[in-house]
Parts: sequence; structure tokens; C-alpha cells
Amino acid sequence: MGQLQERYKNYREPQKYMEAGVYPYFRAITSKQGTEVEMTGHKVLMFGSNAYTGLTGDKRVIDAAKRALDKYGSGCAGSRFLNGTLDIHVQLEKELAEFMHKDDTLCFSTGFSVNQGVLAQVVGKGDYIICDDRDHASIVDGRRLSFARQLHYKHNDMEDLERVLKALPHDAIKLIVVDGVFSMEGDLAKLPEIVALKRKYNCSVMVDEAHGLGVFGKQGRGVCDHFGLTDEVDLIMGTFSKSLASIGGFIAGDKDTINFLRHTCRTYIFSASNTPAATAAALEALHIIQNEPELIEHLWEVTRYALDRFREEGFEIGETESPIIPLYVHDVEKTFLVTKLAFDAGVFINPVIPPACAPQDTLVRFALMANHTKEEVERGVQALKKIFVEQGIIK
Ligand SMILES: Cc1ncc(COP(=O)(O)O)c(C=O)c1O
Repeated sequence: MGQLQERYKNYREPQKYMEAGVYPYFRAITSKQGTEVEMTGHKVLMFGSNAYTGLTGDKRVIDAAKRALDKYGSGCAGSRFLNGTLDIHVQLEKELAEFMHKDDTLCFSTGFSVNQGVLAQVVGKGDYIICDDRDHASIVDGRRLSFARQLHYKHNDMEDLERVLKALPHDAIKLIVVDGVFSMEGDLAKLPEIVALKRKYNCSVMVDEAHGLGVFGKQGRGVCDHFGLTDEVDLIMGTFSKSLASIGGFIAGDKDTINFLRHTCRTYIFSASNTPAATAAALEALHIIQNEPELIEHLWEVTRYALDRFREEGFEIGETESPIIPLYVHDVEKTFLVTKLAFDAGVFINPVIPPACAPQDTLVRFALMANHTKEEVERGVQALKKIFVEQGIIK
């Protein structure tokens, strides 16, 4: 047996849950990702998606992707830097810059590679990078790759952030990086306070709008716009994999920082550009969210309905203020069991266990889309209530 095989033969954590019949991962979907999806054998209500605008099955988005596939082919066979730039990549970057009210943007093939590449590059030796404890894994990985000193503060605890900032040299580059909407708990970063601290301690701020885009702010511009703080936030990151119904991501900022990243960011330069179909789909979704405000209005209508109903039924839903509703379970095994029982009852939700949350805070994540109906939400609430009561999680 080789070294690796010797080391990993005892990694049996997933098998433990498979044997117990509650393993919740890699469940294959055999249809489009609408509010109801087909799984092998049966249909389930989808409350595990990140497609907040509900556009992944939209005919206009699909047609735009098909046209791009026909015109440009299936891939770009190279990075943006060299042979992989299409006119639609350039158009998307230009339109996103206008939409986000920033000078310029760069589009990447995934949101993960935006955070990973940008953070590794934009701060370095002698600088400081300061993250919220609950920042997304892609921020954590970007932070780890940078040569800056890495610091963090307790989730959304502004006193703790100030304690960290106070100890740092006034003139050093200090970048605070936060999720605008925290992806598992659904709460928002305290941006007004963060911006006040940025001014006081001479820092820069980057906000990850993965879950804010298409949900918060005018026309879905995100949490920075929601708080009226776009000008105060130096860099804004977003993904196409959620509200923009595709795959890919972008960084938006001032022209000089973007110019630097365009020519040095390793995940931008040394990785193939986004596919024509994915790029065109994101562009079409961006047009739709700007032209159809009723989409986001409806998302908020069903979100408010779901928040009220879960509270009325006695679920513990934490500090969420978004279409991401955490239903706390506080026990890993039970979290898997609830996920399985919900699935059997026709409701797809996602289990959240460490490292995606603190060990004592396991939960199932219930997320809304703009095309959910109140009737679908009610079916979800009822099914989950029965399970949570039977399992003794709520009364
Ligand atoms: C907060 C946050 N940032 C970044 C990402 C990465 O985005 P993508 O899925 O587009 O790679 C995600 C996706 O899970 C996320 O939730």
C-alpha cells in the first residue's frame, strides 16, 4: 500500500453516514433547477438552490446561451490574457462596471477563483488582511495564499474588529474582507459600522456580493448599494452562479486596481476564460434583473412570507435578513437525519455542518427563489414542521 492509501484508508466519515442511510451529498438532479426538480424517481420542492432570481430555467437565458454556443463554440481554449477573450466577455465586464457603479470589472470562470486570485494578489508582504470569522471558504483560501499578515475578528462583532484594527500601523495597507450576506446564516455584514472603522483606521474594504447580487439594492445591485455605500467599498466581488443563473464571477473596482489585477492576477491569467454559453447566460440574466423589478419584488414577498411562517411555527432562524433561512438543529447527526426525512417528504434542503458553520450551530438551510409560490413555501414549512416536532427540535 502506498503512502497516500495508507493515510486515507481510515477516512470513513462519509461511509458512516452512507451506512446509516442519511448521507446527504451529491444527490443527482435529472431536470432544470426550478422550484420543483426531478430526482431519480420522484419530484421534490427545491429549497436548496442559490438561484435567488429563479432564472436558471428561464427561456431567454437558455436561448442566449444556445446562440452563444452556436456562434462561438463550446469553449475558448485559453485564458482571457491570450486567446480566450470574446467580445461578449468585454461587453459583460463593461455592463457589470456600469451596473455596479465602479470604474471597471474583470470576469473570471468561477466566483471562487475571484476571491482566491484577487486576495492573493491585491495585498502582500507588509500588508494586513482582516476577515470575519464566518467569511466564505474562497476568501479564506485567498487570504491564505497572500503574503499579507492574516487577522480575523468574531463574526459581525464590531468591537472585536476595532480591537484588531487599533493594533495595526496607520499607514500600512489593511484590507477588511467580508461576505455582504453570509451564505449559510443569511445575516448581513454590518457595512455602515465597517465603513466607519475603515475611515477611522485608514483601511480598505472588499465585499463579497455572491448572495447580495440580485437580492438587495436597486435592481439587485447588492448589499453595498442597499446601504448606499458603494463608493466607500473599494472592491466588490460577485458571482454568476447564483442570481445570474450561470457560472463565473467578477471583481469590480477603481480603474488602477483593476488594471493591476488584469495583468497580474493568477487565477485570471493562468486559467481558461469563461465559456461562451455561460458568459451569454450571465449577460442575459443581468439584463432581465435590470428590466424586471417585479422578479426581485416577488422574491422578497415569498421571503417575508417564509420568515414569518417559520417564526410563527417556533423554528429558531437566527439573525437572517435575507432569502437564506437557517433552521437551527444544533446537532450534526440530527441535521443529516432532518435533511433525509425532508427529502423523503419531497423537500430538498441543504445540511450545514462544520466547517461551513460553527460546530454547535449546525442547521438546515432553506433558500427562496423569485419563482417560488407562497403555496410551495407553505408546503415546505408544513413538511419541515412535522419533522422538527417529531425529532424534538421544536415544540
Ligand atoms: C459567499 C460566497 N463567495 C464565493 C462563492 C464562490 O462562488 P462560485 O460558486 O461562483 O465559485 C460562493 C459560492 O458558494 C459564496 O457563497
